[in-house]
Amino acid sequence: MALSVALSLALTLALSLAPVWPISLVYLWPVCGIQANCLWLDGFPRTGGCSAVAAFSEVSKGLMFNSMDMNQPLLELRQIVKRYQLDSGDVLALDRVNMQIFPGEMFAITGPSGSGKSTLMNILGCLDNADEGHYILAGEDVSELEGDDLSDIRNRKIGFVFQSFNLLPRLSALENVEMPLLYAGVRHARQLAEEALATVGLADRIHHEPPQLSGGQRQRVAIARAIVTDPAIILADEPTGNLDSRVGRDILNLFHELNRQGRTIVVVTHDASVACHCGREAQIRDGRVTEILEHPPVEFQSLSTAVSTPLAATG
Ligand SMILES: Nc1ncnc2c1ncn2[C@@H]1O[C@H](COP(=O)(O)OP(=O)(O)OP(=O)(O)O)[C@@H](O)[C@H]1O
Ligand SMILES: [Mg+2]
Repeated sequence: MALSVALSLALTLALSLAPVWPISLVYLWPVCGIQANCLWLDGFPRTGGCSAVAAFSEVSKGLMFNSMDMNQPLLELRQIVKRYQLDSGDVLALDRVNMQIFPGEMFAITGPSGSGKSTLMNILGCLDNADEGHYILAGEDVSELEGDDLSDIRNRKIGFVFQSFNLLPRLSALENVEMPLLYAGVRHARQLAEEALATVGLADRIHHEPPQLSGGQRQRVAIARAIVTDPAIILADEPTGNLDSRVGRDILNLFHELNRQGRTIVVVTHDASVACHCGREAQIRDGRVTEILEHPPVEFQSLSTAVSTPLAATG
């Protein structure tokens, strides 16, 4: 009797809340705390890059972006200065850089070697602080944040693909990809890591260690690690730099698909053909932005074909 009363009460409450469930989602998103965007994924089955959860994820990103003004920058640098101090004298790596990147953009940063691209990406990725200026990330000034506060922001919002991959050589591809989830205490980390590796076409290489993989495959492990937490922003430093043109194109298609799903992508590249695949391009020279170019939209392969046999077989 008590059970049936409780059940009917629960049912009444559930039905009365039904119309406001989508609104509750918007409120729950920011209050779920660190790695919220991973935790809510846990209850849903995820297969590769096009499951019900991926679709749900797109809706939620839409909600997140819609709750911001789409005309407001997601990433904004104001008068950023970065110096490295050496015994031989200071290096001025960034010299009063201003930049705005909007939600859903695919944005390139180009420039000669030593011009400050990686330094800029490290600041955008909350891996380092500027010496002067302000960095506004999703409306929040993060310039003064340090240590855990900075890494919390990074873990919640950003996936980073490093210039030198930064994979741990003694861990398998699966363990490398699992790592950010384990740090965040996310359940089903192994399953999510397997799915991220399947998304980048490496389902058959999950137990290989980085030295047992080709350059292109290592790059894809690094991308799987960046997307496994389902971040809204992906920053990639020379993601195609060490790859032949075919594998580089596959990696680029992968970024296009991640962008199509609603993620904001920033790519550092030396390669003009990669930059042309991005809607806008900031050119950097001697630590200063010299020009911002706009590129027309380009065709790209959908993920379903990009990760099939060619990606699994090459790289
Ligand atoms: N840790 C550091 N200590 C001192 N100087 C540094 C340090 N990191 C970078 N620099 C200097 O800052 C400048 C910008 O370096 P950065 O790595 O940002 O260039 P980059 O554009 O990414 O070059 P590349 O295309 O070769 O990767 C360079 O002159 C570099 O020598
Ligand atoms: Mg660099």
